[in-house]
Amino acid sequence: MKKILVTGGTGYIGSHTVVELQNSGFEVVIVDNLSNSNVDVLNGITAITGIRPTFENLDCLDYVGLDKLLARHEGIEAIIHFAASKAVGESVDKPLLYYRNNLVSLMNLLQLMPLHKIKHFVFSSSCTVYGQPDELPVSEAAPLKPALSPYGNTKQIGEEIIRDTIHATPAINSIILRYFNPIGAHPSAMIGELPNGVPNNLVPFITQTAIGLRKQLSVYGNDYNTADGSCIRDYINVVDLAKAHVKAMERMLQNRCASNLEIFNIGTGRGLSVLEIVKTFQDVNNVSLPYKIVSRRDGDIEQVWANPEKANKVLGWAAKESIEDTLRSAWLWEIKLQEKRKETTSH
Ligand code: NAD
Ligand code: WQD
Repeated sequence: MKKILVTGGTGYIGSHTVVELQNSGFEVVIVDNLSNSNVDVLNGITAITGIRPTFENLDCLDYVGLDKLLARHEGIEAIIHFAASKAVGESVDKPLLYYRNNLVSLMNLLQLMPLHKIKHFVFSSSCTVYGQPDELPVSEAAPLKPALSPYGNTKQIGEEIIRDTIHATPAINSIILRYFNPIGAHPSAMIGELPNGVPNNLVPFITQTAIGLRKQLSVYGNDYNTADGSCIRDYINVVDLAKAHVKAMERMLQNRCASNLEIFNIGTGRGLSVLEIVKTFQDVNNVSLPYKIVSRRDGDIEQVWANPEKANKVLGWAAKESIEDTLRSAWLWEIKLQEKRKETTSH
């Protein structure tokens, strides 16, 4: 069995990826400091897959701790690196926290890889590196735009750190995945997203409003140059996204990479507006969602969606889940969370 280290493996995308890795026969060791996740996620992963992944509560900023961990878990062949801080607004207020957490963690892992004879590295990047693209859909060859936030900058710099490290250390092989907008939850509703405080992202805000935790959704602007005036994004189902990591892992471990550094867009290729998401969510779940149009949000991109052809052809991966099923899964997960909230308040 191939052993994989998954940093940030109890987080939103990490937990779904651990499920898909285990279902595909990989052995997983999770490293997470639980700064933005809960250890109960391990029960969800175990319930879905029948396998409890090994869990190490450790901060990726701890170089010595990571070194010892890699020595303890001899035989790790690859790393999927999700661990990072991801709140765009918070990164503007606390830039050093973001630069330190996201970049030092990355550098620690890259530095330790050759020492532990680990060759393969998958990095979570983001479509944020494209800013507002000149051409849509946006392909991997598009120029990167100046970052709009310290968070976005950590993804751009992270990509550069990987590129420079591989240039100097060709023994390292990396795949960078640029995710578009991950949404939804596992269809079992046993794992999903756990937003901290008031959600900034659209879909968690929608589900929390529909369940009654928030009064109404604010739609940030209807005066953009799009068909209905609201912003357009490429919303990718989180299970589909998780499966892209399995494809990347198989490609690397079978030495099928065309070069030591490959970059793939992970999106559906379809752009949907905020108002389309609002309407579809209400229709498929048969719930009503109070919303109002407010002014634009600072720093928002007008429209972006992926050209996923490279991932389709080279990686052999394509998004499969419909937006309807994805928004159903998001709602089922919110209902599950609400049950848990009630349980904890009644105790
Ligand atoms: P998440 O916050 O749910 O998961 C990240 C996990 O990493 C959390 O469990 C957190 O506790 C852990 N973590 C953070 N810093 C750590 C550290 N120093 N040491 C150990 N563990 C640490 O976020 P997510 O949405 O699952 O995102 C995963 C990755 O994908 C991140 O790198 C994020 O930047 C990237 N990404 C996310 C999105 C998105 O919209 N969710 C989009 C593009 C890229
Ligand atoms: C989507 C759309 C909002 C909330 C962010 C990061 C990006 C990436 C994904 C990590 C936008 C609109 C939202 C609300 C709204 N993360 N919206 N009302 O901004 O595309 O990307 O998350 O890498 O880096 O910037 O995602 O979910 O915040 O917004 O109208 O209450 O929904 O204006 O058009 P975004 P989002």
